[in-house]
Amino acid sequence: NNLDQLYRQVIMDHYKNPRNRGEMDQENKLVVNMNNPTCGDRIQLQLQVEDEKITDAKFTGEGCSISQSSASMMTDAIKGLPVKDALHMSEIFSDMVQGKDYDEEDLELGDVEALQGVCKFPARIKCATLAWKAMEKALNEQKH
Ligand code: FES
Ligand code: FES
Repeated sequence: NNLDQLYRQVIMDHYKNPRNRGEMDQENKLVVNMNNPTCGDRIQLQLQVEDEKITDAKFTGEGCSISQSSASMMTDAIKGLPVKDALHMSEIFSDMVQGKDYDEEDLELGDVEALQGVCKFPARIKCATLAWKAMEKALNEQKH
């Protein structure tokens, strides 16, 4: 249907014109590497966190169109968010890609919603969540 078509366009746009792709200069950035063991695709995420708020996010890596477009959408979505909201959004996203009901609450999901229900096969959910898992890891490691 039309909504599926629109979502597909949004996904392809993020894949072809990735937002926030590249390296950050800041010295006190958080850097985390994550790979998907089932295919070997990998992502490196760099975050800048100030006063419990994500002020910048960038990524590099190689992978399938879903993993790359998801990283582009994710970095866009979390910029400017408090750390706890970014972690909460990751939970919502995980439900969303699996086609479960999710509670949007007050979070602006934006383009991220284009990935809802995209994963018909459980193994492929890892493609969509790779960047989000990297973000969770970076933020959780930072607390220690
Ligand atoms: Fe390809 Fe979900 S990532 S079907
Ligand atoms: Fe490797 Fe999607 S096939 S991340």
